[in-house]
This record gives sequence, structure tokens and C-alpha cells, in this order.
Amino acid sequence: MSDDLNTLYGGIVNRRVTTRDLQAAKDRGEKWAMLTSYDMLTAQLFDEVGIPVLLVGDSAGNNVLGYDTTVPVTMEDLLPLVRGVVRGTKRPLVVADLPFGSYQESPTQALQNSVRFLQAGAHAVKLEGGRRVLPQVQLLVESGVPVMGHLGLTPQSVNTLGYRVQGRGEAGDQLIDDALALQAAGAFAIVLEVVPADLGERVSKELDIPTIGIGAGPGCDAQVLVWTDMAGLTPKGLKLAKRYADLRAVLGDAARAYADEVRDGQFPGPEHSFT
Ligand code: KIV
Repeated sequence: MSDDLNTLYGGIVNRRVTTRDLQAAKDRGEKWAMLTSYDMLTAQLFDEVGIPVLLVGDSAGNNVLGYDTTVPVTMEDLLPLVRGVVRGTKRPLVVADLPFGSYQESPTQALQNSVRFLQAGAHAVKLEGGRRVLPQVQLLVESGVPVMGHLGLTPQSVNTLGYRVQGRGEAGDQLIDDALALQAAGAFAIVLEVVPADLGERVSKELDIPTIGIGAGPGCDAQVLVWTDMAGLTPKGLKLAKRYADLRAVLGDAARAYADEVRDGQFPGPEHSFT
């Protein structure tokens, strides 16, 4: 068995990716891709094609549960999704997103909810915010919970920050201080969402731990996309996401063809019927 994340991309390593693998990839200058996943089938497929990290994001709120924002998402919403993703996979590190209201109150609250995620099979948790959540990050790391940070556009703060580019001008220095503080508290990686590309590169150079960009430019150590954006299932494209397929058209065509064949009496034909 190799410790080399490279071999994981070739589909050779039959073990879970660890936070150490991700650090080793940064140290080698090797980039990697993270995707969200909310269910067993996509998780299984993303494992098969060699995605090393899956995020059970609170973006399930927009992509699975039909909310306009991530704010209404709860632990109870995400726990069954975490179980499905973990059951569907052998190799990816599965990161569970602590939803709004599940960690802000106190470090103890953050620990209790992280324990629920880890006992459901997740290997790490993610939380949004910088220095304001340091006590939480410190307690989680001391307690053996790997923590991924999240800076820049933090969707759980939509009601105070809106959906706008973050970290322009002097706010960029604040963001760097937040990132350094998260690293010092023991975070193993940090998501940078919708910040200027030069800031994404600066943070990635200043930090020892990996940065994972989404709308943060090519200078980040890794990238993350919401899978439904990446595959073109969501109705509208976003500037930060490339659509690598048009799944909306493929699935729509399949559903239409099925309904047409049922109406025409073509399905089920003899090959799909039993004697
Ligand atoms: O919930 C999510 O999908 C996320 C990613 C956008 C990083 O937090």
C-alpha cells in the first residue's frame, strides 16, 4: 500500500484517504479535486473515478431539500446523507458540513455535533468562519476531530454578508489573518469561496495546509465544486463553476422518452416482461 495520493488517482490504493495524504499532496505541489455528494450512488461513482475528498455540504439545502439558502439545514437533515455517502465509498475522505446553528453557540455544542457526524461515519467536519470560531476549532482538534475551515463567501452568513465577492482590499489582510489563525488552531485545510484570484494565491502561498478554492482562482492547492453544478444538473450556470456535462438535458430526455414509450405502449416490451 502506498502513501502517495498520486496512486489514488490511478485507482490503486484500497484504503481511505487521510488528512496526511492531502498535506503530502500540497507538499509535492500536486493539485486535487473535491466534490460535494449527498447520496450513495454519486458517492460510489466519484470514488470509482478517483475523487479523493467528498463533502456532504449544507448545499444539500439548495440541491436536495429545496431551500433557497443553507440557513434552514439541520443536523437531522445531513446525518442520513452522511451515512449514505460513507456507505457508498471505500476511499474518499468524507467531510461533513456543520450546519448553521450547530456550532456557533459554544465549543461544546460544536464537539457534540461533530461527534454525531463522526459516529455516523464521517472522517472530518467543516465549519464556516475565522477567528470567531477558533475556540470551536481548538476544542475539536484537541478532541480528535479533523477540521476543515471555510473563509470568504460563507453562505450561512448570507443574511449579513450577502452573496458577494469577499476579501477585496484591506479585507484580504483580515482573511489572511483568519486563515493563519485557523491553521495555528489545527485546521487541516481551508475552503476559500468567492475571493479574488490573487488573494486565493496569496493565502495558498502563506499557508502550510492546503487551500481548496471555489471561485478563488487557479492558485489554490485544490478545487471544490457542488456536483450538480459541475455536471450541469442545476438549472442555471454559475460564474464560479464549469459545467462538465449537461445532465439536465440527458436526464430530461431520458424521462421524456420513458413517458412517451409508456404512453405509446412500447414500454415494457417483451424483453422487460416476465413469463
Ligand atoms: O456546502 C457546500 O457545498 C460547501 C462548498 C461550496 C464548499 O460548503
